[in-house]
Amino acid sequence: MKKSSDLSRREFVRTALSTGVALSAPTILGTTAKGQGKSFKVGLIGCGGRGRGAAAGALEAGKILGFDVRVVATADYFKERALRAGKQFNVPDNRCFGGSTCYQKLLETDVEIVLMATAPLFRPLHVEAAVKAGKHVFVEKPVAVDPPGCRRVIAAGKAAERKGLVITAGTEMRHDWNYIKTHQAVAVEKALGRLYAGRVSFCMGHMFWKKPINPKTAEDLVRSWQNWITLSGDHLVEQHVHNIDVANWFCGGPPVSAVGFGGRARRNAGDMYDFFSVDYDYGDGVHIHSMCRQVTGCWNWVGHDFVYEKGRTSGNDHPRPKKSPIPADLAKGPSSHIQEQIDTLYYVNKGRGVNQARAVAESTATAIMGRISAYTGQQVTWKEIMGDARAKPELYNLTLRPTAEDFDKGTVEIPKENVVPIPGRS
Ligand SMILES: NC(=O)c1ccc[n+]([C@@H]2O[C@H](COP(=O)([O-])OP(=O)(O)OC[C@H]3O[C@@H](n4cnc5c(N)ncnc54)[C@H](O)[C@@H]3O)[C@@H](O)[C@H]2O)c1
Repeated sequence: MKKSSDLSRREFVRTALSTGVALSAPTILGTTAKGQGKSFKVGLIGCGGRGRGAAAGALEAGKILGFDVRVVATADYFKERALRAGKQFNVPDNRCFGGSTCYQKLLETDVEIVLMATAPLFRPLHVEAAVKAGKHVFVEKPVAVDPPGCRRVIAAGKAAERKGLVITAGTEMRHDWNYIKTHQAVAVEKALGRLYAGRVSFCMGHMFWKKPINPKTAEDLVRSWQNWITLSGDHLVEQHVHNIDVANWFCGGPPVSAVGFGGRARRNAGDMYDFFSVDYDYGDGVHIHSMCRQVTGCWNWVGHDFVYEKGRTSGNDHPRPKKSPIPADLAKGPSSHIQEQIDTLYYVNKGRGVNQARAVAESTATAIMGRISAYTGQQVTWKEIMGDARAKPELYNLTLRPTAEDFDKGTVEIPKENVVPIPGRS
């Protein structure tokens, strides 16, 4: 389906995307993970709602697998949040770190698995540092806000592979057994024939801040990260990446190009849009329409719809493959949030097996491609943002500012509030 000039990448993507987590380690089938008296030390970077949820999920997953899992260090830009999470997970205060470089202090401890749930801007820096420090990683989506950030995560993923480190991602449908089996039946075994088209959506009500933020400091920006393009990537990237990831997975790789629209109807804080509509061209005549909106009082839908030669699927409603790609001894969790922690521990325990860095980075880049198209009003191609540094260097090297490194160095310039990209001019 997807065209690409990079065959080794295609091979990798085909394996990683067509199998989600489950098939990436066929050699482990038949072994058991239950009750081995193993213990794992977990560290959390980004102690907000999702981060603390992921840490609680890791503890729950440990119980399901019979492992002794402990949260042994926490880190957050705001030390009081690291301390609050520390209290929740019985972490001594001297292992709860604050400030922009808190991730470095956490990585210097004996943590083995790092859960990352900060603002997306910081992910490439943190993933690189964690892999360098020899840690396994569970990384929340999205993993970057610009094309160079996506490539940094892909490179870190390769380094992790060389070191035998596991990287799992919070693109949760790839941990959901109904999605994994439906993908196997439809995209791998072709139970419904050829894919013609589809649509993916994350349309919901208002989220985030209703009044101008008037940020003065780096701290103000981090506190209100969900409102700023540079920290979140905009909601097409920050939230809708979930559904775009499913599209990439079912299409066998990222699209060739994107043409997007978007704008700001109701938001009056930060600098983001509040709706997007993007046509993704996956090659061979296959188009997937992506839409997302955060405006209250409108039609809402979060989901997927793929139209095939012999029928259609929402991505999770055809779970009857001839051959299940799920390892026989992999425990089933009560939710995909717990399943992603089960998967992480299961593969860490095996010592190898899964690396979702490229898949989540490519889905993040796909969302970024749609965002750039909507902001500029131009068609944007995969080759321009990810494939060829010389095709359009201004897109390939597009780096949102302030960067994560600016926060570490104290060189943050505050973006202008309520100044938004204008198609045709931006
Ligand atoms: N997969 C899912 O279902 C899901 C659900 C919610 C959120 N998320 C993702 O999880 C991430 C966090 O979302 P959230 O809802 O928990 O947000 P949040 O604001 O509740 O928490 C983020 C935390 O990260 C901290 N932080 C930000 N930048 C940091 C830095 N440089 N270093 C250390 N700490 C930093 C903040 O202080 C905050 O405590 C986002 O990427 C979001 O997209 C995923």
